[in-house]
Amino acid sequence: MGAGRIGDCNAGPARGQSEPGGGTLDAGAQPGSFAGMNEAEVREFFDGWATYEAILDHEAMHHPAFFAAAGAAVARDLGARPLTVLDLGCGSARHAARLLTGRPATAYTGYDLSTTALAAAREALTAAGIDPVLHAADLRQGLAGPPDSVDLILCSYALHHLETAGKGVALAAARRRLRPGGRMLLIDLAREADETREVTTEAYASWVERDWTFLPAAAHREIRAHVRAHDFPEDDATLLRLARETGWAKPELLARERWHRGWWLRPGD
Ligand SMILES: C[S@@+](CC[C@H](N)C(=O)[O-])C[C@H]1O[C@@H](n2cnc3c(N)ncnc32)[C@H](O)[C@@H]1O
Repeated sequence: MGAGRIGDCNAGPARGQSEPGGGTLDAGAQPGSFAGMNEAEVREFFDGWATYEAILDHEAMHHPAFFAAAGAAVARDLGARPLTVLDLGCGSARHAARLLTGRPATAYTGYDLSTTALAAAREALTAAGIDPVLHAADLRQGLAGPPDSVDLILCSYALHHLETAGKGVALAAARRRLRPGGRMLLIDLAREADETREVTTEAYASWVERDWTFLPAAAHREIRAHVRAHDFPEDDATLLRLARETGWAKPELLARERWHRGWWLRPGD
């Protein structure tokens, strides 16, 4: 059951809002470059949102397992208090909305390049009782916002679009944005240490083609082209090293499924 295109909203910060103090980034201040990433291509791929909705519907990237574990971690570490949440590459925020349902006075800000996804995010978050601030903008703008101002950062399947150094810069910037006691949920693709990026992305695309039979052949072709051009999964040791070098304690592995990982990060001492 794909959701289909749900219409477009205006480019620029949704509802004309900008995050307080967030500002914009000049080229020199951008935390990390997107190796091989053509922003317009990524936007176009995700604006065809029906494919990704079908992936979510079929739980093909294991969101329910990761977000169930995240829910327990949120309850354990952040309790029931109101949270300021920053969602980087929020997409349709389907699982973020579920994670935050029932929390009092959640202040949620999401960044995504796809206006189609943001329209769906607004619907899902509003239904969860949240009045979101959504930016049709690069997630690096969210990372460049004011320090010590966020309780929970969500980053689900977006960081792998950055090359290695860019992931480090992004993790450092995320660490800077967190309030003391804050946490980050990082869900992403990973590769085996002894595999090159090319081997992993080809294996991933082949697995998708074999297992995601709910998608038409054209979608498989698009996915293979997308992972070849835009996906840069790290091996676990590299991700742990980057986290250590950027001020995080050793990340807690919430769950893993094939190439998919859910990590829970807390600031280091
Ligand atoms: C695989 S989807 C994940 C969406 C959502 N976080 C989830 O887990 O369901 C990746 C999302 O990241 C967005 N994205 C990719 N690169 C981005 C960037 N540089 N800035 C903002 N959003 C980006 C895409 O538009 C897409 O919505």
